[in-house]
Amino acid sequence: MKGLILSGGKGTRMRPLTHTSAKQLIPVANKPVLQYGIEAIVAAGIPDIAIIVSPETGDEIRQFIGDGSRFRANVTYVEQEAPRGLAHAVLTAENFLRGASFVMYLGDNLLQHGITPLVEEYRSLNCNSEILLTRVPNPSQFGVAELSSDGRVVRLTEKPKEPKSDLALVGVYMFDEHIFDAAKAIKPSKRGELEITDAIQWLLDNGFSVHPHIVKGWWKDTGKMEDMLEANRTVLDTFERSVRGVISGQSAIEGKVVVEEGAQIVDSVVRGPAIIGREANIQHAYVGPYTSIGNRCSLEYCEIENSIVLENSTIAHVDGRIEASLIGKNVKIVRTHRKPAAYRFMLGDNSEVGIT
Ligand code: DAU
Repeated sequence: MKGLILSGGKGTRMRPLTHTSAKQLIPVANKPVLQYGIEAIVAAGIPDIAIIVSPETGDEIRQFIGDGSRFRANVTYVEQEAPRGLAHAVLTAENFLRGASFVMYLGDNLLQHGITPLVEEYRSLNCNSEILLTRVPNPSQFGVAELSSDGRVVRLTEKPKEPKSDLALVGVYMFDEHIFDAAKAIKPSKRGELEITDAIQWLLDNGFSVHPHIVKGWWKDTGKMEDMLEANRTVLDTFERSVRGVISGQSAIEGKVVVEEGAQIVDSVVRGPAIIGREANIQHAYVGPYTSIGNRCSLEYCEIENSIVLENSTIAHVDGRIEASLIGKNVKIVRTHRKPAAYRFMLGDNSEVGIT
């Protein structure tokens, strides 16, 4: 079997971070989302993986993943010239995938228990496709499945206005080669994309077997900022305490806190679940629950919780507590003493700043 990870797309819902970065490289608990996907596929015994990238973010992804050997994977890159849909992405990788069945993994998805049970079930079932489903409170934001009373898949609809069930399609799918015929047969949807949901419906309509698998444990689609923060909370909750950095002065490290090597915490309180990245410098600060501070960040005289701060950023001398925030790489939030006293911003397009 082979693996296909979709890491193209535009990332419009994660701007401004995605003006300069691939959304799949935004870290959850200090690990890029895409890395969770690669590790899950390798853990299921599938080292041969193709990653779909876009022309805009391909270089950054190639730079981070390399040939995949760091993750015990053998990675091939396939460039999709424009985000024409998930089924279009499958066709783009047809040369790599032909001759094997494969698992397709959306690069912005996270699953608590990985995909090993699904891959094992698919191998034993001898069906054409297997889909993952889970109950959600907001099904109209996903592909939605209708099952018959005996548990067979009857109909799949992409983001229906009036969903017929609360069973959402999770972004992991198993396919054999019939998916190529399906993807070639369907037409673009109203949003102009070749939908994988329509391709799977084509399999159903043409007598191929599609097995539903209800996911146990949590699943997160990290497409939006609130989803990112929620994924961050969920993953941090699974961490064990581990302090490898240096703690000094009047500091308190409370609960499930990971302090990576080379980090320094001086006269500060870190209340878990939280992670402090390598060589981060935390002085006279409070880092509250559900916060991930990236490598080489500097925090001084500030308070932050329920947030993600990417590497190399500085926060200093901020009075109010920062919360529910996603702060990019190399960002500076600092108090200055320049006159006239005023807010001075340099923000990218579509930035959001909340001031009390
Ligand atoms: O997360 C689960 C949902 O994923 C499913 O419930 C939906 O049925 C499925 O269509 C998909 O919906 P999204 O709207 O969330 O898909 P999104 O556009 O965010 O793309 C998912 C991933 O695939 C993301 O990492 C970007 C990548 N992608 C997307 C498109 C449209 C590509 O690589 N190429 C593309 O053409």
